[in-house]
Amino acid sequence: MTQITLRRPDDWHLHLRDGAMLQAVTPESARHFGRAIVMPNLVPPVVTGAQAAAYRERIEAAIPEGSDFTPLMTLYLTEETDPADVAQAHAEGLVTAVKLYPAGATTNSASGVRDFDRVRPVLETMAERGIPLCVHGEVTDPEVDIFDREAVFIDHVLDPIRRATPGLRVVMEHITTRQGADYARAGGPDLGATITTHHLVINRNDILVGGIKPHYYCLPVAKREEHRRALVAAATSGEASFFLGTDSAPHVDAAKECGCGCAGCFTATNTLSILAEVFEAQGALDRLEAFASLNGPAFYGLAPNEATVTLEKGAPVTYPEKIDCADGPVTVFDPRMPLHWRVL
Ligand code: DOR
Ligand code: ZN
Repeated sequence: MTQITLRRPDDWHLHLRDGAMLQAVTPESARHFGRAIVMPNLVPPVVTGAQAAAYRERIEAAIPEGSDFTPLMTLYLTEETDPADVAQAHAEGLVTAVKLYPAGATTNSASGVRDFDRVRPVLETMAERGIPLCVHGEVTDPEVDIFDREAVFIDHVLDPIRRATPGLRVVMEHITTRQGADYARAGGPDLGATITTHHLVINRNDILVGGIKPHYYCLPVAKREEHRRALVAAATSGEASFFLGTDSAPHVDAAKECGCGCAGCFTATNTLSILAEVFEAQGALDRLEAFASLNGPAFYGLAPNEATVTLEKGAPVTYPEKIDCADGPVTVFDPRMPLHWRVL
């Protein structure tokens, strides 16, 4: 096979930031993707419907002329979130989902949830109305090893929340473990899981062996090779539970290449070529469309994009090493393998 045509893919987990970074990275996603679930972890976070409306306007102003890229907005769940505001923002079509960050789990998560009982009323409203909860699934207990934080979260936080809130639709964001894939698979139609591009490619050795590689550091941190393989198996399976959420998370190089580097891999630019390579290696190119373009909309109750995108196989395609942002350069994720699939 030397050409493959898919429905236009969507990105079900994306960081677009604000200001100069928003201007720099929005065209990178708009080039290949139809829609994206936009994360709300700005400083300050996007907490209310009014803030989401204002942020959507800023994003729309950064979308290149002629592009039909559509941002799907999320609200950042705090212990003060008003269930009525969530319900109204969703009913108006302004907000697609709500994002749960355990306080302190990752970049700009300080306003996240500490006491899950305090968000019960919001979760119940969401369950009644079918509003999906996008979950950053890591515990923050300092006693729990960083490589175990996802698996512990599933048993100690996620499963109890789901049992206590029947009907709550949940997306396990950026799963990084076999346990995450197994739990998602067993969860039925109300449970989905996004998988990033970079977690299909790197394991923890890639971050740490032969010198520390800040551009491979993200959260949840990449795990052992057996987990990466479980993620590749899940993504390439075609199963409805699994869909693409790149978690493309730009930081300027100065914020990554320093004594306390930020978490995040920036993959918006070259994700489709990387995915094609990964799926082809598994003999699963025919399932790339399910993962990138069909399963996500089905979970969110939306139609797949009408438009298509074609990838063509040939001599390795190169992407820029960095993209420019007025705040400084942003390094594009390096998959460290030749990419033969060019997006036409
Ligand atoms: O690596 C990450 N970067 N993981 C997250 O959960 C947040 C993100 C960011 O906002 O930089
Ligand atoms: Zn993220």
